[in-house]
Amino acid sequence: MSEIIRLNVSSVRNIQSTDIKPSAAVNVFFGENGSGKTSLLEAIHLLASGKSFRSSKVDPLINYEADSSAVYAELHNGYRVGLSKSRRQKHELHLQGQPQSNWENVARELPLQLLDSNSFLLLEGGPRSRRKYLDWGAFHVEHSFIENWRRSRKCLANRNFLLRQKRVDIKQLAAWDAELCDAAGEVDRSRHSYFSALAPRFAEVYSELNGSESNRLSIHYLRGWDSDKTLAEVLASSVSLDSRYGATQSGPHRAELDIRVGRNRAVEVLSRGQQKVLVSALKIAQGDLLSKQRDRKCIYLIDDLPAELDLRNRASVVSQLLRQGGQLFFTSVEQKALNSSFPDAVEVAMFHVERGIITA
Ligand SMILES: Nc1ncnc2c1ncn2[C@@H]1O[C@H](COP(=O)(O)OP(=O)(O)OP(=O)(O)O)[C@@H](O)[C@H]1O
Ligand SMILES: [Mg+2]
Repeated sequence: MSEIIRLNVSSVRNIQSTDIKPSAAVNVFFGENGSGKTSLLEAIHLLASGKSFRSSKVDPLINYEADSSAVYAELHNGYRVGLSKSRRQKHELHLQGQPQSNWENVARELPLQLLDSNSFLLLEGGPRSRRKYLDWGAFHVEHSFIENWRRSRKCLANRNFLLRQKRVDIKQLAAWDAELCDAAGEVDRSRHSYFSALAPRFAEVYSELNGSESNRLSIHYLRGWDSDKTLAEVLASSVSLDSRYGATQSGPHRAELDIRVGRNRAVEVLSRGQQKVLVSALKIAQGDLLSKQRDRKCIYLIDDLPAELDLRNRASVVSQLLRQGGQLFFTSVEQKALNSSFPDAVEVAMFHVERGIITA
């Protein structure tokens, strides 16, 4: 179980300073437009991943009148995580008081899933978003995944550098290719094994959510190179093409999830709301699998669900999330908009957000 028992946020967007004790189950942040609800979710996301889900850079999150932002959380297992970020300077991240050079350890302690108005980009956007989705799972399930993934990135960067030279050094290229094939094989193995466990769980969740066309919906994992050739063969046969582009055209960086309804891509036939249900099912399935495979519960950040789904779909998404038993952070403009989605027995902590001030 991952659970935040105390959260302290300073100078993130319009939130100047807040210290809250969230419930282990449901937390609802309600308030007017622009009051700071999404900013609170953003602060949690920033702490867990180093990234915002609204901007590619972190500096815009720092309150206009402050020099730095800080987010600190205490977890139910006694872990303490702290992050501070000053303008134009590198962040400082600590876990248990120890400086962290990257987010690997923190991300493992705080597995997060986000459902917001951009979530449908998982279907609509390019392969990168689906690859990231898949890699989230592979990262949490297999500790060696990130190392192999980094190794494959390094090989690709070096290979691409060689390909961009006037005369390609074939000997050096062969050395990087061998290393790339090894790393790519491991990355593909982890992704494939994760996907094999995820696909059936996703199918169950999607049909429990009454997802449309569930009997015609299919998901396939594509590894990024020809299914009937080895990567070594593909790389060897595409040197001239790759050097023309100055970049390797096949490999694990081209992996993809192909999501279809019948023969069409799901994004081409499902309505926006139907896509939201599909994306919710994908994200709920990942949380389910994490708790099954790693005995760990995801924290879900759910931004403005009432605006995204109709009443029936909202109720079924919420009930699936509650069934998982992890910690949930909802935002809503209306205090009561979500109430009908929660059964009476569920303990709901309500927080009012007003001009960046959060009160329980
Ligand atoms: N760096 C910043 N410093 C101070 N205020 C900021 C900064 N960046 C954004 N804001 C403001 O912070 C406020 C909070 O925005 P936020 O998106 O969290 O609101 P919200 O409660 O989610 O609103 P909505 O219901 O419209 O989604 C907005 O008024 C925004 O203009
Ligand atoms: Mg918002």
